[in-house]
Amino acid sequence: MIILSIETSCDETSVAVTNERQILSNVVATQIERHKIFGGVVPEIASRMHSEAILPVCNKAIENASITYKDIDAIAVTYAPGLIGALLVGVNFAKGLALSLKKPLIPVHHLRSHIAANYITHSDLKPPFLCLLVSGGNSVIARVNDYTDFQIIGRTHDDAAGECFDKCARAMGLDYPGGVNLDKIATEPDFSKYPLPVPSVSGCEYDFSFSGLKTAVVNLIHNNAQKGNEVDVPVLCATLKQRVCDILCNNTLKAAKDLGINTIAIAGGVSANSLLRKQMQNMCKEQGFSLYYPELKYCGDNAAMVGVQGYYEYLKGNTADESLNATATMPITEEMN
Ligand code: KG4
Repeated sequence: MIILSIETSCDETSVAVTNERQILSNVVATQIERHKIFGGVVPEIASRMHSEAILPVCNKAIENASITYKDIDAIAVTYAPGLIGALLVGVNFAKGLALSLKKPLIPVHHLRSHIAANYITHSDLKPPFLCLLVSGGNSVIARVNDYTDFQIIGRTHDDAAGECFDKCARAMGLDYPGGVNLDKIATEPDFSKYPLPVPSVSGCEYDFSFSGLKTAVVNLIHNNAQKGNEVDVPVLCATLKQRVCDILCNNTLKAAKDLGINTIAIAGGVSANSLLRKQMQNMCKEQGFSLYYPELKYCGDNAAMVGVQGYYEYLKGNTADESLNATATMPITEEMN
């Protein structure tokens, strides 16, 4: 089944052509350089840039897949959650295409598609498994009961892990996207030099809270600046990275153990983090879990993962008509019908 898929939830315009789990093309036009000067994504600029890029990106995806528009069986599109103006560009483009080609329209939840990035890389992976889903806007531990059946086991009570990385990196003077740059320059952690707190959520052992950690880093930077002390940025980056990864890994493995689940996956932009991948790998090996993570090129936002999840949504009958709307927030557990 040939699916043309569209992703415009944040700052990447992406269109892919997929056939079940196989990727025929995946074109990604990133807006990072444009947003960098503002230190973060400017929603209005993001929407405008998606409008300009969507048609050329779509044509390129068709060309790279060596197909024509007539060969498409269905259109999949990210419709929630994300920046509303950005999502609307993709949703309206998808609706127009589905109407003109007279093909089914498949709405895809953004976080579900991040999990599906693992299906691209690992042909043997199938539910049930536990997934740590960590991105710029979300941090959850989800039990994937089936391709379209999810249960939240743990979640953040405030900031997402990626948001914590990005805001701390910004306070340290690093360019957007901070998480990536923080990962690159981090050296060795030093908790005696930078004694960052170990946040936990009382009564919710699998949940996360990262805002206190973010505040501790920002205060540390300001206090040192006021005293005229220089902060060792690579060491602070490594210390923060270690703290966040410890929390993510410990909570996920504890949940897996308690629930009796042997297979763990990680997904979302932060799953590209070098330490998270390494530490998860070591801990899973030591404790006897099978671990899956996506190839680096499928960790960030891309339409290939939307096409793959779209295939499973289609099999489940989750299609929409021209009344489909974009939604800025929506839990991963919500059903279309
Ligand atoms: O999944 P994603 O591309 O977009 C959302 O759906 O949010 O995730 C973006 C987030 C950003 O916060 C970015 O800083 C973070 O993922 N990120 C990383 C790394 N690569 C991307 N954080 C830590 N280490 C990385 N290597």
